Amino acid sequence: MTTGYAGLQSVIWADDRLDLLDQRLLPEEIVYLPLTTVEEVWEAIRHLKVRGAPAIGITAAYGVVLASRDERGGVSDWLARVLKAAEYLATSRPTAVNLFWALERMSAKAKTLAESGRDLETCKRELLEEAVAIQREDEETCRLIGEHALTLLKDGMGVLTHCNAGGLATAKYGTALAPIYLAKERGIDIRVFADETRPVLQGARLTAFELQQAGVDVTLICDNMAGMVMSKGWVDAVIVGTDRVAANGDVANKIGTYSVAVLAKAHGIPFYVACPLSTIDLGTPTGAEIPIEERSAEEVTEGFGKRTAPRGVKVFNPAFDVTPAEYVTAIITEKGIVRAPFSENLKKLFST
Ligand code: MRU
Repeated sequence: MTTGYAGLQSVIWADDRLDLLDQRLLPEEIVYLPLTTVEEVWEAIRHLKVRGAPAIGITAAYGVVLASRDERGGVSDWLARVLKAAEYLATSRPTAVNLFWALERMSAKAKTLAESGRDLETCKRELLEEAVAIQREDEETCRLIGEHALTLLKDGMGVLTHCNAGGLATAKYGTALAPIYLAKERGIDIRVFADETRPVLQGARLTAFELQQAGVDVTLICDNMAGMVMSKGWVDAVIVGTDRVAANGDVANKIGTYSVAVLAKAHGIPFYVACPLSTIDLGTPTGAEIPIEERSAEEVTEGFGKRTAPRGVKVFNPAFDVTPAEYVTAIITEKGIVRAPFSENLKKLFST
């Protein structure tokens, strides 16, 4: 069966509120949360109701709109609210640079609007249009990433992915999963192995769910099975998303990605990273400077309600790791495929 992409939309602007698909409840329940305040948006990002770098950025952009839309004073009071909201939302999660990229874009737009002499209602309307544009552009960007990534795949290949870099993590299609959906649309058979992705199980709950919904041949494996599956010759390429690419090509992504990259290298399998330009942070020189979020011990000791470790045990729970550039075969963006030397070639993306 060949179908087009028909995934759930994770972020929906609904005139006067933001409807957010609660990703913590998937795949069992499909619930949209109606958000009306910036505090609710902060909480939704912090607690993974929305997650995935591009989706976090889109949500934060709408959060700025929610924070400033009730201003009744003048344009300068409105601008102050926008900037305060952006500063506040920037504290929700530290690693995905798309969050800061979107907040900077919204702040810059608001400053330009305020300086232009437009009246308050026009400023509000045009700022909302900027958030809508961020979401629309992400959809187009993901489709282009998919087109470029598809040139690296052939009918009958097996692809392994980690975490969820699919439609749920973006406006549509995803980054790492975009070529899989395009392949499906075009009748090209790709088998996907989805790592379950401990401790929050984005691979099991989200990737397996959205690929299965689209009719893609997906097999769920525990994280510690990736090496075995590779040794069987079932994986022709690894494709993952990322939360931030440093200027030297080091890549931060969901914890466990680094292990997958090392395994891929040991088996001579290409390791591809798919992302929009908004995830590339030339201001961060290397992976060592990327802030890595640490999350609560409970995610490891009693994830999903059942205690699986002794009370009081010491826990280390980083949400992301850094894969050094030497393990990365190529970075696939909306502007094309970038290979080493990454320090030179990533820069070129921004100058053309
Ligand atoms: O903690 P999460 O679920 O927000 O982590 C998400 C990831 O690591 C994704 O791979 C990354 O954001 C890319 S999404 C296109």
